[in-house]
Amino acid sequence: MRLRIGLLLMCLAMCVAFGLLLSKRGSGDVVEAENRKILIGLSMDETRGPRWKKDQAAFTQRIEELGGEVTVRVADSNDTQQIKDVEALITQGVAAMVIIPHDGAVMAKGVDMAHAEGIPTISYDRLITGTANLDVYATFDNVKVGVLQATYLVETLKAKGIKKPKIVRLLGAKTDNNSFFFKEGQDQVLMPLVAADEIEIIHEDWCDNWEGVNAKRIVNAAITLHGHDIHGILASADVLANGAVKALEEEGLSGKVVVTGQDADLVACQRIVAGTQDQTVYKPLRLLARMVAEMAMKLATGKSLVVPAEIDNKARMIPMAVAEIHNVTKENMMETIIAEHFHSFDEVYKTIPENERPTRP
Ligand code: GAL
Repeated sequence: MRLRIGLLLMCLAMCVAFGLLLSKRGSGDVVEAENRKILIGLSMDETRGPRWKKDQAAFTQRIEELGGEVTVRVADSNDTQQIKDVEALITQGVAAMVIIPHDGAVMAKGVDMAHAEGIPTISYDRLITGTANLDVYATFDNVKVGVLQATYLVETLKAKGIKKPKIVRLLGAKTDNNSFFFKEGQDQVLMPLVAADEIEIIHEDWCDNWEGVNAKRIVNAAITLHGHDIHGILASADVLANGAVKALEEEGLSGKVVVTGQDADLVACQRIVAGTQDQTVYKPLRLLARMVAEMAMKLATGKSLVVPAEIDNKARMIPMAVAEIHNVTKENMMETIIAEHFHSFDEVYKTIPENERPTRP
């Protein structure tokens, strides 16, 4: 009897102690959860290209508006580093992760690591391929980017009356899935003309890491091989146009060769109004960044997303959201870049004499 009472008392004491422990831990968790903001990880390839700093700022602002917090890691075009970055973000306890991959195929590993820890992932702007664990992809219409660039180039050269123009094409980084979409869009426009012998691609190459120095080297090589007989440079992005225009300047060809681009970087817009670049593609980055921030916060809190489209990432159909893009030239600079406050009037027309500028808005 004594033993039974003893056991009962011991059991009671243990239950009380255990109960206290549970409730202590429970209430502590609540307090901690209340104080701790939802942490969202952002793993970026690089921030050399001016667009990425804008993406980062707009993304961070929206997450903070929604009551969250962002922790950012930048890999400087290094895949090993970007995998380490993802590991670090997991360790930091992020509730959702947004990845702008340097190499879309390599970063499948990062997505899988996050997934194994129950962390949802969003592929930002560039598609991460070869993993079924990716939750969502948010981007712009990348094929259309290529269509706009090539259409502008072809039509401008035609308007100049150049018969069978010779062009050099600067493709993006091979590690970036977008580069192939840009090429696909460009090819849709160019290949029928090449087949009809109406245009000639005299030189083309991929630009590693999307670096201007590589673009310059390729244009230098094209000039060495073909001389000054070049009418257009189909640069897949403004960061490549930077290098192309430098190479043209050295040869006294700047302003004489039609140059395209993408991203509406400030330097590119300045070149467009000055006449040393002709076109760029404006991607409303703020829109994309805010949309992804909202998605990340939803995923982080276990809510579901409604996403309109999907894309094959070579592992499964991934839900995809696509934001609109716009063609930008000297003629519509005011209605696009300036009107949208992407850059200010003073910034864009900085190098243009006052009397040659359009009317200030
Ligand atoms: C692409 C991106 C472009 C451009 C390029 C170089 O993936 O879609 O907007 O910035 O990278 O950074």
